[in-house]
Amino acid sequence: MVGRGSKRPPPDTAAPAPKAVAVTSAASALGRTTTRQLDGLRRGVPVDQEASPLPMARVENVDRKRLRAYPMQPPTIPHSIDGYQVDKNSNRCMLCHARANAEKFQAPPVSVTHYMDRDDQFLATISPRRYFCNQCHVVQTDAQPLVANNFEDIDTVMAAAVAESGSVHEAAVASKGTP
Ligand code: HEC
Ligand code: HEC
Repeated sequence: MVGRGSKRPPPDTAAPAPKAVAVTSAASALGRTTTRQLDGLRRGVPVDQEASPLPMARVENVDRKRLRAYPMQPPTIPHSIDGYQVDKNSNRCMLCHARANAEKFQAPPVSVTHYMDRDDQFLATISPRRYFCNQCHVVQTDAQPLVANNFEDIDTVMAAAVAESGSVHEAAVASKGTP
C-alpha cells in the first residue's frame, strides 16, 4: 500500500474476503506482518527502514523436471546455468538444445515453436524471438513464493467438478459457465 493515499475506502467493501485470508496466512509463514497488503519484496517493513534481505535462493541442479502449470508454460530449467553465455556471438543453450546436438547431450530439443518467426514461417535456425532463452525460462530454485496464490491447474479443477457431479461430461458442461 506504499505510495497510495490513505483516503481509500477500506478494502473489505471492494475485494472478496477469502483471497485476503490466504495472503495473510502465507505471508505470516514467511515472517511478514499480518497487515493485508501485497508486499512481497518489503515484507511489511516501512519504507524509511532497511529490511534485512532473505537469504539467496539455492538453484536446484538435480535434473528433475517440475510439472507445468498449464500447457503453454515455458518449462523451468532443471539444471544450473552458471556461466552459460548467451550473446550476439554465441548461444550456449543451443549447444545442447539444438535439434542436431540434442541426442549427443541427451537434452530435449527446443520445440518447433522456437524456429518460427512471427508470421509462423519456419526458419533454419533458432528464431530471433526465442534467442534469449532466459526471457521465458528460469532456473528452479528453493525460493518460497513472495506472494501467496491459490492457482489450481485444469486437472484439479476438473477433478473437483467430477467429484461434485459424478460425471466427466457434466463437469465439462458445468465448467463452461465459469471464467
Ligand atoms: C551441457 C548441455 C546443456 C546446456 C548447455 C543447457 N542445457 Fe538445458 N537441459 C540439458 C539436459 C540434459 C536437460 C534434460 C534434463 C536434465 O538432465 O537436466 C535439459 C533440460 C532443460 C529444460 C527442461 C525442458 C523440459 O521439457 O522440461 C529447459 C527449459 C532447459 N534445459 C533450458 C536451458 C537453457 C535456457 C539453457 C541456457 C541458459 C540450457 N538449458 C543449457 C542440457 C543442457
Ligand atoms: C518467448 C518465450 C521463449 C523463449 C525466448 C524461449 N522459449 Fe523455450 N519454450 C517456451 C514455451 C512457451 C515452451 C513450451 C511450449 C512450446 O514448446 O512451445 C518452451 C519449450 C521449451 C523446451 C521444451 C521442449 C519440449 O518439447 O518439451 C525447451 C527444451 C526449451 N523451450 C528451450 C529453450 C531454449 C534453449 C531457448 C533459447 C535458445 C528457449 N527455449 C527460448 C518459450 C520460450
